[in-house]
Amino acid sequence: MDRDGEDRRSDNDEDGTPTIKIKKPRLDVGHSHWIREEFAHHQLGIARINNGSFGSCPGSVLAAQRAWQLRFLRQPDDFYFKTLPDGILKSRTLIKDLINADHVDEVSLVDNATTAAAIVLQQIGRAFSQGSFCKNDVVVMFHCAFQAIKKSIQAYVVRSGGTVLEIQLPFPVHSRQQIISEFRRGLERAKANGGTVRLAIIDHITSMPSFVIPVRELVQICRDEGVDQVFVDAAHAMGTVPVDVKHLGVDLYVTNLHKWFFCPPSVAVFYCRKSALSSQVHHPVVTQEYGNGLPLESSWIGTRDYSSQLVVPSALEFVKRFEGGLEGIMKRNHDGVVQMGKMLADSWGTILGSPPNMCSSMIMVGLPSRLCINSDDDASRLRSHLRVHCGVEVPTYYHHASPGEGEEQLQDTSPRDKDGFITGYARISYQVYNTVEDYHKFRDAINQLVEDGKVCKFLSAE
Ligand SMILES: Cc1ncc(COP(=O)(O)O)c(C=O)c1O
Repeated sequence: MDRDGEDRRSDNDEDGTPTIKIKKPRLDVGHSHWIREEFAHHQLGIARINNGSFGSCPGSVLAAQRAWQLRFLRQPDDFYFKTLPDGILKSRTLIKDLINADHVDEVSLVDNATTAAAIVLQQIGRAFSQGSFCKNDVVVMFHCAFQAIKKSIQAYVVRSGGTVLEIQLPFPVHSRQQIISEFRRGLERAKANGGTVRLAIIDHITSMPSFVIPVRELVQICRDEGVDQVFVDAAHAMGTVPVDVKHLGVDLYVTNLHKWFFCPPSVAVFYCRKSALSSQVHHPVVTQEYGNGLPLESSWIGTRDYSSQLVVPSALEFVKRFEGGLEGIMKRNHDGVVQMGKMLADSWGTILGSPPNMCSSMIMVGLPSRLCINSDDDASRLRSHLRVHCGVEVPTYYHHASPGEGEEQLQDTSPRDKDGFITGYARISYQVYNTVEDYHKFRDAINQLVEDGKVCKFLSAE
């Protein structure tokens, strides 16, 4: 028995697969109480409304992870030859069902979305450098694709002679149709010089600014327009929106489990449809498993800690303790973030960056224009100030006019509050551990800055 009264045992299932069993704490002490206990390791006094950046992991899953780590250290050889492959297969099998893949061979566990991007883009880069693709052939992505994805394109595709086209998306965004129209226009531009679109990279939920992309519709457009492959960067999807790879019709899809699915850092699911060149994708770290298929290549990338991949069953157990399981969590988090977003926008006299049906468990909220957020630096200074002086952890965003956009156009189209243009936004997250007080703390901190006449340029982050 542990200090906190939980009974932890490691065991084998009837089929011989290893499991780490954590006896559930009693639920009759109240819903919020047991959730607070699960996240008792979070620093006290911080309104943590940024689950989106790094996720969170409950104590029971961390305990299961520790048990796996000890199991490895107790008998490494047995672990390597039997426990590890069986355990990873078990995690992949659970995930296969969760994402509705046809076969477990389509499911690999990798470190994170960044690693999956490297796998996809190295494959594309090789095709350019080996002459299978020609110079006019194009990779398309959104202008707000995650920086690591953009840099990977530079490193692997552009350096090998490939062409990249960025599709600009509107913000604030008002409808799914706006995204669909911009995407169509982008594909037309990509094909204008006779090239083939070899890869479309589509975010499921963009990072910053954040909103949900109509992936299924965009994938269908790609099929109609003869795009070779579609890779969906769904870093935030699992645990915030339904993930059904067959329904979405994607070729390649990555979703982190450490952001919104309660796994510890770091583990991501990388789905690679069997028919979609799966034999040509390789893990960037080459080991003796090279050539044995991506799932096996990914399951051994040298000696290291694999416990985050092994605790998937424990994370699923945790999810099942909530009413409605994963769907229940997603719905409550979505409803919570919309309600809190509206409360903040009302208090500050600003707007939401997207309609509620285009947000998952994160939403963009306009910040008062009197804070004078006029650059990325201003937005970063505000973020640091909130962390250091106000105990609020929330990412901030400066939204500048598009290049070439004139002052007049800005006046016509940009949202305003009573004092001027809204050029700054906060991305708030809602996860099971959050309480209304977290958002009230943020609201009051911003109202205080405005009342004190503070502008971001002069905020101290020390
Ligand atoms: C849209 C998007 N893609 C990729 C990533 C990278 O995720 P990771 O750091 O887990 O690789 C993030 C991280 O926030 C993201 O928001």
